[in-house]
Amino acid sequence: MTDSQKTATLSYNGENYELPVHTPTAGPDVIDIRKLYNQAGVFTFDPGFTSTAACESAITYIDGDKGVLLHRGYTIGELAEKSHYLEVCYLLIYGELPSATQIEDFENRVTNHTMLHEQMMYFFRGFRRDAHPMAVMTGVVGAMSAFYHDSIDISDPWQREVATIRLIAKMPTIAAMAYKYTIGQPFVYPRNDLDYASNFLRMCFAVPAENYEVNPILSRAMDRIFTLHADHEQNASTSTVRLASSSGANPFACIAAGIACLWGPAHGGANQACLEMLQEIGTVDRIPEYIARAKDKNDPFRLMGFGHRVYKNFDPRATVMKQSADEVLDLLGVENNPILQVAKELEKAALADPYFAEKKLFPNVDFYSGIILEAMGFPTSMFTPIFALSRTVGWISQWKEMIEDPAMKIGRPRQLYTGETARDYVDVEDR
Ligand code: CMC
Repeated sequence: MTDSQKTATLSYNGENYELPVHTPTAGPDVIDIRKLYNQAGVFTFDPGFTSTAACESAITYIDGDKGVLLHRGYTIGELAEKSHYLEVCYLLIYGELPSATQIEDFENRVTNHTMLHEQMMYFFRGFRRDAHPMAVMTGVVGAMSAFYHDSIDISDPWQREVATIRLIAKMPTIAAMAYKYTIGQPFVYPRNDLDYASNFLRMCFAVPAENYEVNPILSRAMDRIFTLHADHEQNASTSTVRLASSSGANPFACIAAGIACLWGPAHGGANQACLEMLQEIGTVDRIPEYIARAKDKNDPFRLMGFGHRVYKNFDPRATVMKQSADEVLDLLGVENNPILQVAKELEKAALADPYFAEKKLFPNVDFYSGIILEAMGFPTSMFTPIFALSRTVGWISQWKEMIEDPAMKIGRPRQLYTGETARDYVDVEDR
């Protein structure tokens, strides 16, 4: 990967330092500064990692300027249209699209792990009924390391494989149980004759007293939401999983760390925050007031569901999600829902406003996913757990790639220290 023809020169303190340059298969060249501190005694400063490649990866590629997202080389648009979530999981984990027998075997393996250890029920019951499902998921997924001791040896490839399958298989069960618990309904066990998305919908919406038929259009839309959130390169939660795993921590603990990071409103929590914002706006006539607030430098308010660190053109996931939103809204006949009216008008108003155009702020995936999930009947508190269950495969694929990389090192950033220098301790009576 290093292009021996290319180097970068850094001049510092009257000395020149030649730095190797790596040429990726796609994207900008990468200047290798790993030896910089040893050679020149300086650190680099990049909080927020806006110009720093923190790892080498062959899983997902984003060209934010062109609005491109590729998984193992395949565009997200094509995957969303022609593939399905478990096939995309296979692709992310193993690097290639599966053959017919490979996908059948993979689906069987996932299906055989959908149930949770029965003792985990009691773990759920320790939470308050009004707990946010993300709080429950963070706790329960972390607790998996106590229930599945047999797959926490990360140096054993077979155990890594079992942990991978277990996480993908059990996450819908955990998310659905977290939901059922908070609404006081009995847990619904998985049904292995259903596909992944239909099984999740049933575990969320079925009750023992009634028959539940999964609507295939909703199941397809659910599968699309999973697919569109499956991986997204080195985002905050994935980087959290990588950093946590770099210490050798077990996969369940690391995925729990990823879930905790995803919860924030600047990341996966944006889908919940976006719908709550639409509810707060309430009616179309209040949109100009909120647009003005988003533009006001002295107001911390931001339009949730707009903008992205990497996409400075459009979010290709949002394009597919918008189509799905239209299909679902059509099916459910909720075009006249006031929240959805606000969403449509807000999108129009923001896209026509020069502030958003200049700053390249477009609706992102979370703008539309929240609208679909709301129409399907999910409460806003379930939006981020659904993101977490979808992203689990991305986290685990990146975790696996990192563990299998011989160059793997514990992550240990440096700092620009601006605190006090060494000083003498002052006894309390002298302070
Ligand atoms: N509304 C109003 N102004 C905004 C927004 C917004 N949603 N997003 C960015 N800006 C402005 C920001 O104020 C700044 O202006 P200025 O240059 O005058 O100071 C400029 O645009 C650049 O913003 P930034 O914060 O430096 O950009 P960033 O790359 O650090 O932030 C972001 C990216 C996604 C955190 C941000 O756009 C945001 O907070 N959006 C709302 C939350 C959201 O929808 N998040 C979901 C992201 S997609 C799902 C996922 O990957 O998790």
